[in-house]
Amino acid sequence: FEAKRLAGRKVVLTAGPTFEAIDPVRGITNSSSGKMGYALARACAHAGAEVVLVSGPVALPVPYGVTRVSVQSALAMREAVAAAIDDADVFIGVAAVADYRPATPAEHKIKKSGEAMSIALTPNPDILAEVAARPNPPFCVGFAAESRDLDTYAEGKRRNKRLPMVVGNLVQDGLGQDDNQVVIYDEAGRHPVPRAAKDNLARSIVKHLADLLAAR
Ligand code: PMT
Repeated sequence: FEAKRLAGRKVVLTAGPTFEAIDPVRGITNSSSGKMGYALARACAHAGAEVVLVSGPVALPVPYGVTRVSVQSALAMREAVAAAIDDADVFIGVAAVADYRPATPAEHKIKKSGEAMSIALTPNPDILAEVAARPNPPFCVGFAAESRDLDTYAEGKRRNKRLPMVVGNLVQDGLGQDDNQVVIYDEAGRHPVPRAAKDNLARSIVKHLADLLAAR
């Protein structure tokens, strides 16, 4: 496959959802299956990279040749990324990180009272933005999951976080599914990748990123 285009490179990825505890038995999460991130981890390993996959709770086996670090919350994901990122050449944020978490998770199970209740939320750190803002950042690839106006939002995220590359997708096209269709955004513009199995898409994305990395 592509003559081991990532040989000698270390890639750190995030994948899956995060789970933000409300109490010991409940939490806030989202419907990312992890399939896209795991396919990319597999493609990077196949291309010869050393791969660390920081994964939220998903029901997928560890891809061959990949080191998985399992986490639940966004704060734990941020810590696991920080522990692996210093000598990384590439960071790929595929995780659907919860933007907010309950401000003070209850220590014990919350009892039903019949009254209306509300949960105070506090913003989570943006893991990708933090990695991209490091003094000597790895080559950072972001994902953008949108439900409309993909070009505007995805290219906006690329510029705001100063990323060399963003992979945009519409949630209705790929979330939870075995295939997806994406658009890659970089300095040169937009590059649509037609609908395919996530493993095949991952190879196209890795090829694109290896080309940009080599041209640096
Ligand atoms: O897991 P699957 O079922 O296969 O579905 C794949 C997918 C739709 C989840 C995936 O293709 C995808 O788009 N992942 C990114 C989802 C997302 O949360 O995007 P976002 O637009 O909210 O975030 C933008 C980028 O910042 C992402 O790279 C995200 O990982 C990162 N981020 C966001 C928030 C945060 N607090 N920390 C982050 O690192």
